[in-house]
Amino acid sequence: MKRNYWENMAASYQEEIFDVLQQDKKKLLVRAIRKYSKPNQQVMDIGCAVGKWLPVLSPLFKKVIALDISTNNLKIAQQLHPGLKNVDYKRADMSNPTLRVPKVEFGICINAILTPHAKDRLVFFNNLKKCIKTNGTLVLTVPSLESYLLTRIVQQQFNIDRKEFSETISGKKALVKWKNIMQGVGEIDQVPHKHFLEEELTLNLNKSGFQVLEIKKIEYPWSTEFNRPPRWLHSPKPWDWMVVAKKD
Ligand SMILES: C[S@@+](CC[C@H](N)C(=O)[O-])C[C@H]1O[C@@H](n2cnc3c(N)ncnc32)[C@H](O)[C@@H]1O
Repeated sequence: MKRNYWENMAASYQEEIFDVLQQDKKKLLVRAIRKYSKPNQQVMDIGCAVGKWLPVLSPLFKKVIALDISTNNLKIAQQLHPGLKNVDYKRADMSNPTLRVPKVEFGICINAILTPHAKDRLVFFNNLKKCIKTNGTLVLTVPSLESYLLTRIVQQQFNIDRKEFSETISGKKALVKWKNIMQGVGEIDQVPHKHFLEEELTLNLNKSGFQVLEIKKIEYPWSTEFNRPPRWLHSPKPWDWMVVAKKD
């Protein structure tokens, strides 16, 4: 999942990519951003894509830096939000070890640390550390590995969407998949994406100089995982992890 993947996705981004802002029905993320934001602060939207979060951030902060690896995404974000005058757009790769990033008091990073490559994630976390000022706040969302496994366990146990989940693979492909899942890398639409355990996420953040203040589930309906979820299937729901962390 390198730059090309995101550049090529840009044109169909709105149809293809899961919309966390819209699907977070309890508005936990918006509430967390409002709770910790201050109007004199600068915020960076790290992995902003087509800028869905910019209308939320722009009125709450003095300045917004919308950062993404993809030029195509940034162009769309700019076209969609010509009225947001306090937004600067910046193309940068958070997995570049020599990246020079502006330092801000507040960062949001919503489902952008998805790369299956451990080295790229390590550098990404390191750059998060570099771009948030001491005592600054980070609001981070990542896919949950617990939720990914729960979906597959529930699917098998109750025979849901059998066709969509049935797959026979062997040999090299099976070995790659097995190695991936042992590292929390599961496929979404046949593309390997990193998913995090709660404890793993806390550990990663601590190692990058952040203290976790809040960790919550952003819950979604089962229709986001299954085409035909059973009517009785309510709780537990699938989820992403949301963390609010403070930089040491
Ligand atoms: C799933 S989208 C999430 C977009 C947005 N945060 C949202 O919630 O609507 C992930 C975004 O992260 C960006 N991204 C992925 N890896 C990145 C990296 N190494 N540096 C900067 N941006 C990255 C992608 O280009 C993509 O726009």
